[in-house]
Amino acid sequence: MSSIGYEAWLRYPQLAEDKQEAFSRWCGCIVEAETEESEVMAAAASELSRGLGRMLGITTSARSSRDSSGKGCIAIGTFNGGNESIAHVYGDSGVYPNTGAEGFAIRTDAKSGIIAIGAEQPAGVLYGVFHLLRLIATGTAIDELDIVEQPTNAIRMINQWDNIDGSIERGYAGQSIFYDNNEITKDLGRIEDYARLLASTGLNAITINNVNVHRLETYFITDRFLPDIARIAGIFRRYAIKLFLSVNFASPIETGDLKTADPLDADVKAWWKAKADEVYQAIPDFGGFLVKADSENRPGPFTYGRDHADGSNMLAEALLPHGGLVIWRCFVYNCKQDWRDRKTDRARAAYDHFKPLDGRFMDNVILQIKNGPMDFQVREPVSPLFGALPSTNCMIEFQIAQEYTGQARHLCYLVPQWKEVLDFDTYAQGEGSHVKQVVDGSLFGYKHSGFAAVSNIGDDANWTGHPLAQSNLYGYGRLAWNPQLASDAIAEEWTRLTFGSEERVVHTVVGMLMDSWGIYESYTAPLGVGWMVSPNHHYGPDVDGYEYSKWGTYHFSDYKGMGVDRTLATGTGYAGQYREPNASVYGTLESCPDELLLFFHHVPYTHVLHSGKTVIQHIYDTHFEGVERADGLLKRWNELEGQVDAETFKRAADRFAQQAEHAREWRDRINTYYLRKSGIGDALGRTIY
Ligand code: GCU
Repeated sequence: MSSIGYEAWLRYPQLAEDKQEAFSRWCGCIVEAETEESEVMAAAASELSRGLGRMLGITTSARSSRDSSGKGCIAIGTFNGGNESIAHVYGDSGVYPNTGAEGFAIRTDAKSGIIAIGAEQPAGVLYGVFHLLRLIATGTAIDELDIVEQPTNAIRMINQWDNIDGSIERGYAGQSIFYDNNEITKDLGRIEDYARLLASTGLNAITINNVNVHRLETYFITDRFLPDIARIAGIFRRYAIKLFLSVNFASPIETGDLKTADPLDADVKAWWKAKADEVYQAIPDFGGFLVKADSENRPGPFTYGRDHADGSNMLAEALLPHGGLVIWRCFVYNCKQDWRDRKTDRARAAYDHFKPLDGRFMDNVILQIKNGPMDFQVREPVSPLFGALPSTNCMIEFQIAQEYTGQARHLCYLVPQWKEVLDFDTYAQGEGSHVKQVVDGSLFGYKHSGFAAVSNIGDDANWTGHPLAQSNLYGYGRLAWNPQLASDAIAEEWTRLTFGSEERVVHTVVGMLMDSWGIYESYTAPLGVGWMVSPNHHYGPDVDGYEYSKWGTYHFSDYKGMGVDRTLATGTGYAGQYREPNASVYGTLESCPDELLLFFHHVPYTHVLHSGKTVIQHIYDTHFEGVERADGLLKRWNELEGQVDAETFKRAADRFAQQAEHAREWRDRINTYYLRKSGIGDALGRTIY
């Protein structure tokens, strides 16, 4: 058994011998005609032969027409790319399937013995190849395929929070694979393998540096770094992935060129135009800029009395002649709040800043909105900005990195959380206006839209630290391609690709993944209140860690009760940022769902939940159960000893042991804190300190 680490879900484990024949009879050769002219097509052909070789133990030669051995062949090509086999399978009817720019079609033509993977563009062929390999790896019959798939979201992006010193902001899997010691890495092989992983899930865009753009990274858009960055762009290009850069809004000043970064200043505009020209000179298909401005002490247009529309439009004008995009983040709030002030509410901030600007952004600006109003907590409501900007391109930002959900030490499969967000009904155009239809652009007819997420990879041998955390990266890509996919289906697909199809392993791992988010939630901050983590590094429990800080993240626990009053009537009014019926559902104590109760309401510990329990008893029960269930994860994993490779087994077993231990720390800190605050004991008399 080879280690699942480095190759992740592209390991292509060999199929059992009795299962091989059903597939290998279609795989006598690979027919292609465009690999010379298209590097994406070449990547597709090489991936196909690698995957077939490993799973079926055969060598498939690539050729430009079928051989005469009578064995079936796989033909790959664009519809009008001169591949006769593609033309034969698809051309007969005279109409090619509608695959759109990035989709693909796969058809088995029994008569001619060809499985054709066709698309409009080479990128579609690449995705089709990965799809066919996935079918084979998961043991799905390929004798009668007739598939047409298109991605739901146009932008399917990953955000690296990597710094040029080699560190990764909120990275828990080692150092950067992109940078080392203030230089761009020379090890391009690992970047290529990362590109393969991303492309295999359908991702098509990457920002390779942290949204917090520090001193040296400010020079990424200058000739000092552009040649190296162009090389990286070249690698991603082979896998149909566009490269973006995070930029520093104050670049004109920090490079020493100008005295101001005022977006309405003529010299500033000219400076950015010249910069855009320079970047496109080096990287003709450059994607654009990602910008964190006026957020957590980053520079921005506010300094000059301008707003976010002024700031982003200025950059958008510079990129427009080249077809570039500005992705402007909405993570903007007052991070110097006074904890005594109960009127200011960080949750309100994104909506309050951006809603009034709707309609003022250029067509090549996209607002990137975090899934929730706070910051990637284990549980928060959906950001009310989704659905509130009918006239401004929007995309969603998730965090794969698990900053607040166990940092690759605890298992937390996040796909179910993301699905809940995507399925949330905003009511923006009446019932059925789900977040997924906002961010795929269909609800309001956005010109640009899609998904972004903060990556969880580093230079650890297995990329993600926790071996099972690879499932989050995989799942994110699959969901960006198709948000309708079910969480458990994605989990199962990942497990089979990664571990092979031993049913006991599949059953156990999928079960553990599916339980993991709920388990993590049960022993951490209760009922949607969030935080309670140690300041700065955000790992482990500290109930009052942020209670008297300036960051706007409070739970307001006293001897009588806890929670944040965000109602319109008596609180911060945040609940009123939603459309009806959401505003009333959240704003009314009786209808607010239990899991978000303390996000919206301040209640006594004796308040009775819909579950029938009091708040205080709920806290005790979930924290005791959470530890038992974390112990259960370790036990379930241990039962797989000998069934998964030894190295992966041990790495994960170590993490599950840590998780069980840390869950106890969470349980005891939180239970003890609330026993001491409330003076109300546990109805079951369990040990609280
Ligand atoms: C969080 C995170 C920061 C990050 C910020 C952001 O606050 O802790 O490290 O910079 O989000 O998304 O910009």
